[in-house]
Amino acid sequence: MLKGKPFVKWAGGKRQIIDKLKKCVPEEFGTYFEPFVGGGALLFELSPRKAVINDYNEELMNVFECIKDENRFSKMCSELNKHEANHSEEYYYLIRNVDRDKAKYKKMVDYKRAARTIYLNKACFNGLYRVNSKNEFNVPFGKKVKVNTYEGQNLGIIHAYLNLNEIDILNIDFEEAVKDAKKGDFIYFDPPYDSETSTFNSYTEEGFGKEQQVRLARVFKELDERGCYVMLSNHNTTLVNELYKDYNIHVISAKRNINSNGNKRGKVEEVIVTNYITNFSE
Ligand SMILES: C[S@@+](CC[C@H](N)C(=O)[O-])C[C@H]1O[C@@H](n2cnc3c(N)ncnc32)[C@H](O)[C@@H]1O
Repeated sequence: MLKGKPFVKWAGGKRQIIDKLKKCVPEEFGTYFEPFVGGGALLFELSPRKAVINDYNEELMNVFECIKDENRFSKMCSELNKHEANHSEEYYYLIRNVDRDKAKYKKMVDYKRAARTIYLNKACFNGLYRVNSKNEFNVPFGKKVKVNTYEGQNLGIIHAYLNLNEIDILNIDFEEAVKDAKKGDFIYFDPPYDSETSTFNSYTEEGFGKEQQVRLARVFKELDERGCYVMLSNHNTTLVNELYKDYNIHVISAKRNINSNGNKRGKVEEVIVTNYITNFSE
């Protein structure tokens, strides 16, 4: 079977550590749950037949929905063709600024919104997804002369995968997204990163501070007690080590390409936590 790869570049994407993650995946499991799916690197790598995928980002999950559905997929592809043909700096800003008119944007049909999200991701600076306090996409133009929104067969492969398998697509909070997980199911949590410098009650860009990390650890424990296989990745911080001290913590080094602060690119230590024994070794 041909495997897809993430159709958008996403902060925290897991392509760089995909082989290490794969080594930690249980050999057999029931339904696959990915409550912070982002670009879906591990989802596509495993391409499970039964999955529940979720993310808080509404635009992103709308793209997953539109790629899955036959009719919306073909309409979205026509839109992508238009974006590719018209691509220029001026056109980029025209499409980007559609969300400045809230009433108009609200009425925009879902497949057009999906094509806009893919196009902006490919054409913007560094493939970032960033909105301002008014929820307006505000990444500048990426200066590419041509954009390739399909990446060869990739979108078609993902369409076939999502359409022909039992894939539920959700857009809710992570805790709600795993409420139906049963014994033997496998849950992979890839939350926004904890950082050594943030403090309790501190504001984070994605609204995912230390309280959320603590809540996630509680959900991890509940799923463990339910008999699920649970895996989580995060930065190797003091809090993460404290929260998961009763589980298996594998420390790995990862190269990070997307960082809102360009100076901070480079190697960072990450962890993969599991509630089951793996044969992982670096
Ligand atoms: C580190 S990224 C995931 C990266 C992804 N695994 C990949 O390979 O691209 C974390 C994701 O969590 C999402 N998120 C933040 N808070 C959330 C919440 N409370 N519930 C569900 N998703 C949330 C963000 O929208 C973001 O896409």
